[in-house]
Amino acid sequence: MGQTWSPNSWRSKPIEQVPEYPDQAALDAVEDRIASYPPLVFAGEARRLKDSLAKVAAGDGFLLQGGDCAESFSEHHPDNIRDFFRVFLQMAVVLTYAASQPVVKVGRIAGQFAKPRSAPTEKSGELELPSYRGDIINGIDFNEADREPDPQRLDMAYRQSAATLNLLRAFAQGGYANLDHVHQWTLGFVKDSPQSDRYRDAAAHITEALAFMRACGVTPDTAPALRQTDFFTSHEALLLGYEQALTRVDSTTGDWYATSGHMIWVGDRTRQPDHAHIEYARGVHNPIGLKCGPSLTPDGLMELIDILNPRDEAGRLTLICRFGADKVFDFLPPLVRRVKQEGRSVVWSCDPMHGNTIKAATGFKTRPFDRILKEVEAFFAVHNAEGTHPGGIHVEMTGKNVTECTGGARAISENDLSDRYHTHCDPRLNADQALELIFLIAENLKKSRQGRETVPVASAVAGF
Ligand code: PEP
Ligand code: CO
Repeated sequence: MGQTWSPNSWRSKPIEQVPEYPDQAALDAVEDRIASYPPLVFAGEARRLKDSLAKVAAGDGFLLQGGDCAESFSEHHPDNIRDFFRVFLQMAVVLTYAASQPVVKVGRIAGQFAKPRSAPTEKSGELELPSYRGDIINGIDFNEADREPDPQRLDMAYRQSAATLNLLRAFAQGGYANLDHVHQWTLGFVKDSPQSDRYRDAAAHITEALAFMRACGVTPDTAPALRQTDFFTSHEALLLGYEQALTRVDSTTGDWYATSGHMIWVGDRTRQPDHAHIEYARGVHNPIGLKCGPSLTPDGLMELIDILNPRDEAGRLTLICRFGADKVFDFLPPLVRRVKQEGRSVVWSCDPMHGNTIKAATGFKTRPFDRILKEVEAFFAVHNAEGTHPGGIHVEMTGKNVTECTGGARAISENDLSDRYHTHCDPRLNADQALELIFLIAENLKKSRQGRETVPVASAVAGF
């Protein structure tokens, strides 16, 4: 390391998870074309996200990151974006209340297309074809034509990301994020939930806080913070040719930024310190996420921290931990202790999805809701014991009523999975399960808040 970085310096490093394109010239041509397209995000926004994450790193905020495992071209529909955003906002309000802290909202959306796979090929009967790697690379149907990587898909992914981002910006700033409305939706969820008793108290407290603010003259009409919100995008920076094409110099600072999304992360399978994905991520100034799975040692983590955040900038690095419910107590404490001992600033976030994937007897990949919750609870317990800040969660979720994860208040069983199993990759929490998880996390957050000075409820809800 320490060598000169450039947007293409990753090309001289070893690389994992690369698709084999049949026509390199066609790929080069598409990448060149995308390099001339407008950036999707502006560097100033990425800096604002970094500032917000710096507060989380310091213990003064909570990160909510979530969305599809893999966005798809076929599910590109305004209703899907709206339903996702609606549930996401509800989750954010409940968390803001429970944490008494601002919640930094980051979607896995508007660019989350490329997927790392455990095997390069997949077999069905006698036929062996390349694995599906996400709609930005190839198609999901099991036939030769679909599975062949197609460079034109990069262009499609760029255009879908732009359209998705445009609608999200309109929702975030144009009145859809009105706190009164968001809370009304949540009350609807609580009323209909089989676990309504469990969530009613927290919801009633938010209702009271809003009524108090209204009595004080603080309403969505008078306070912009109650009718609009900051919403950021993120995805795994896996397909580096696409990322390179959207890597631009910020004219105000002269620094390089990934403009494909506000935050990018490096996956658990591609975080080798001397490989291409880490090389790419170290040179862009965006906030970076790093997936931390059981194979990461404290020394390995420090090496990556030194590469990705050599100047220890707060908000630069989010460690997204995904061990599996039963492994958290073995693997997380040594990492937390080491980072604390070295005095490095990071956001600790919990991804309770990727270590808890199992195959149901019916053949579907699924994730039991209670294991997801167990991983989150273990994450909180570790941070509470170590005196560090459990700074966020990272979930795969959708606003739709899918049946992909088992359990939850509606007790989805393995036999129910076939009803509405729509994911293009990993199983997602459906809208109800995502909200349930948040209400249960809210209980944990309240516990870890005990001992800290309490913030008046009204200012907590407003995120002041
Ligand atoms: C993902 O977030 O979809 C993913 C593949 O995660 P991980 O790299 O942690 O396995
Ligand atoms: Co996934």
